[in-house]
Amino acid sequence: MGRVAELAGVSVRTLHHYDEIGLVRPLGRTAAGYRTYSADDVERLREVLAYRRLGFGLREVAKLVDDSSTDAVAHLHRLRGLLLERRRRVDAMVAAIDREIEARANGLMVTPEEQLEMLGVRLYDAIGGAYPATRRTEPRIAAQIWNALGDAQTVLNVGAGTGSYEPGDRDVTAVEPSAVMRGQRPAGSARCVAAAAESLPFEDHSFDVAMAVSTVHHWGDPIAGLREMRRVARRVVVLTFDTDEPGRQDRFWLTRDYLPEFAAVLSEFPSLAGMAEAIGARAEPVPVPWDCADGLFEAYWRRPGAYLEDHVRRAMSVWTRVGPDAEQRAVRSLGDDLRTGRWAERNSDLAGLDTADLGLRLLIA
Ligand SMILES: C[S@@+](CC[C@H](N)C(=O)[O-])C[C@H]1O[C@@H](n2cnc3c(N)ncnc32)[C@H](O)[C@@H]1O
Repeated sequence: MGRVAELAGVSVRTLHHYDEIGLVRPLGRTAAGYRTYSADDVERLREVLAYRRLGFGLREVAKLVDDSSTDAVAHLHRLRGLLLERRRRVDAMVAAIDREIEARANGLMVTPEEQLEMLGVRLYDAIGGAYPATRRTEPRIAAQIWNALGDAQTVLNVGAGTGSYEPGDRDVTAVEPSAVMRGQRPAGSARCVAAAAESLPFEDHSFDVAMAVSTVHHWGDPIAGLREMRRVARRVVVLTFDTDEPGRQDRFWLTRDYLPEFAAVLSEFPSLAGMAEAIGARAEPVPVPWDCADGLFEAYWRRPGAYLEDHVRRAMSVWTRVGPDAEQRAVRSLGDDLRTGRWAERNSDLAGLDTADLGLRLLIA
């Protein structure tokens, strides 16, 4: 035990504790009665310590390592994905620190929001609590996604969140890296694995289809994640959006007239053509109904007053990405235009439309 503790960089007390709570329970004993660790015990301990270092609580770690459907290689894949996610967060934290150092050197004010941003909290662990208020299944978008799933029986839902678009009549496995989002999945929903798209803890061709809805733009490496989906499933279905089209910023009045900062958010996102090419996909438009039930960023294109509501914006990551200054300015300016009738005047062509093409696309490979 002493040797294992030394090699693993933990105290003997920690190992005793893991033994007592049944997390890592070495059964071997020397002639003198000391505990000995088998190769399997060491492997399990390694997984326990790795998940602990990633911030999982003891109870969650126990569930992860006791999952009989996950072997050592699957654990390695999952750990790899979670670490890539963490690396992205650390990079973002370093960048935020650099920005703050520069701002302070130039005598600029740093807002409380900017100061907290450097903590690099995983976006959905920070904002996910607001999600269920408005983010629900939109039946017409669901029908288009389910149609693309074809006759698939086994479905992997990557970046699953609360499971809005999981088909109820198939065998679904969900993947979701945010503990907050996993915790909000309704009772009785599909089994959910803590992992990230960039390194899926599954064998090649494990599923008939892998789907991903409104999530690719959050991944640290979207192309790597899409290739992973391609590897583990025979068919891939992805709801994302088109950033290739010139003038894409002008497609939606909200970004055109009130939120020019959205262009910078999009600039980091890979092109639709690049994503399609990575997995050999074709793209089909996904129209947004005027009364869209899923409160995604584009959902309220004919109901502009909704964007003035705090709880509506809190369930859309765009607002967190552009920052509080841009958000407050956009909301103020939209509010003014709604009061004066300027919005209605500028957007009179929308009144008669039932659906709008705002750049949402379904990639099918
Ligand atoms: C806008 S939500 C979409 C959730 C769900 N697919 C839906 O349509 O309601 C985006 C989700 O992507 C997840 N996500 C972020 N980074 C991810 C990654 N690297 N791999 C997989 N999912 C990720 C977030 O935690 C969040 O739950």
